[in-house]
Amino acid sequence: MLTKIIDHYKSLESSYSLTRNVGSASLVTAKDNSSGVDSWFYFKESFSRNLFDYVVETTQLSINGPLRFVDPFAGSGTSLVSALRAAGEGGSLHQPDGTGNFVMGLEVNPVMVEVCRAKTVCILHPEHVLGELDEMRNVVVRQFEAGPGDEVRVPGATLNEERYYSADAARDLVFLGALIGALPDSGGRSVLRVALASAVGATGKLRKDGRALRYVKSKRVAEPLSSFLSFTESMIHDIKVLAAGERCGGEAMVVHGDARAAELRDGYQLSIFSPPYPNNIDYTEVYKVEAYALGFLSDEAELRQQRVRTLRSHPSSRAALSMDGLDEPVLRDSEKELLEVVVESIPSGRYWQQRTGMIVGYFRDMRLVFRRMFDAMAPGGVACFVVGNSTHGVLGEGGFVVAADVLLAHCAAEEGWEVEGIHVLRDLIRRGKSEFARESLVILRKKS
Ligand SMILES: C[S@@+](CC[C@H](N)C(=O)[O-])C[C@H]1O[C@@H](n2cnc3c(N)ncnc32)[C@H](O)[C@@H]1O
Repeated sequence: MLTKIIDHYKSLESSYSLTRNVGSASLVTAKDNSSGVDSWFYFKESFSRNLFDYVVETTQLSINGPLRFVDPFAGSGTSLVSALRAAGEGGSLHQPDGTGNFVMGLEVNPVMVEVCRAKTVCILHPEHVLGELDEMRNVVVRQFEAGPGDEVRVPGATLNEERYYSADAARDLVFLGALIGALPDSGGRSVLRVALASAVGATGKLRKDGRALRYVKSKRVAEPLSSFLSFTESMIHDIKVLAAGERCGGEAMVVHGDARAAELRDGYQLSIFSPPYPNNIDYTEVYKVEAYALGFLSDEAELRQQRVRTLRSHPSSRAALSMDGLDEPVLRDSEKELLEVVVESIPSGRYWQQRTGMIVGYFRDMRLVFRRMFDAMAPGGVACFVVGNSTHGVLGEGGFVVAADVLLAHCAAEEGWEVEGIHVLRDLIRRGKSEFARESLVILRKKS
């Protein structure tokens, strides 16, 4: 069985040009994002700020006129920020009259939308944000010190668990979230929300550990107001550096929406993105405490609603389990050639339905994204995505790899894209060895 799946992947792979460049593994990690706006909110799943220039160099992309860039899975906004930098003075894609650049991000998680908005507005309009931020912060602190008029309702089981957050810390975080949420919609408010999101991590005894939040008894925790103020202070410092630096003209639009369905506009020359990998990470779960504290979620029902709007990359979505209204996951005839061998490798048993639903649903969802992206791109436009091939179970003990890089490349080709190449940037060795356990950059082009 396992030979069959490897043969299947090898046969798919043989249609594409494959480059191994594992010396550049840091490009698919958050390691380089440790200063300036890139460091504002620690998003473990982000790729490097330097990936953008690697793509421009590899694809020899050149543009005439302003840059139009889109990221349908914007996450913490790494690619949006890199695109604005590249289009700005001194950047690799800067144009002499570089004012009309347009950068768009879609993101389904409201916490990450706020992170993207804060970063992009500060790159484009640092002085404006600085002008409003001091006063906004002072209003929040004054109102916080005056105390809440009524009792503060703390939402969600996690914030109410005293082992994770003291009752005082949970109340203060939610109160701060409400005060910031009541400010006028602006760049300053986004910045303050991101500072509070970072304070959520610093004030509780939890650690983000891949798929879950783990309790760390020995973790030292900060106090909410001082943690929030210290993150705000350091962000203000970064904004001042931006205000003194080189400029980028243009517009950034970050939409809270679903990459499978939201309005994308068109005419993009470039897209660099990373969809959720088919590896069971449920971002709604991992970033739920921030969402509760910021006032984006008020109860478990809203949490579930947000979860089902995410791509089927984890089995906790009902849609993944039931497969588009059917009780059992069923492959369509058109999907059999690509996915039958993968589905046959899933061990029978308790988790068969969940895993099958997730894997089939994942490729069905991504096909929709490729189709919409193809329509939105300008002729000659380049779209690149980073994806990790996830190992399910342990290799050699019934486990198998979902080679998302070659499987997605094939889906994209069927939606009209030309696959220019697959760059293997990192080997993943945690659950056993396989040449397909890896993280890759897949380069697509819409033929002129
Ligand atoms: C791998 S992360 C992207 C990381 C990003 N490249 C960065 O550097 O920060 C994938 C993102 O896709 C988002 N996502 C999941 N389902 C989505 C959907 N249906 N539409 C848009 N975004 C979605 C997740 O919330 C997550 O932030």
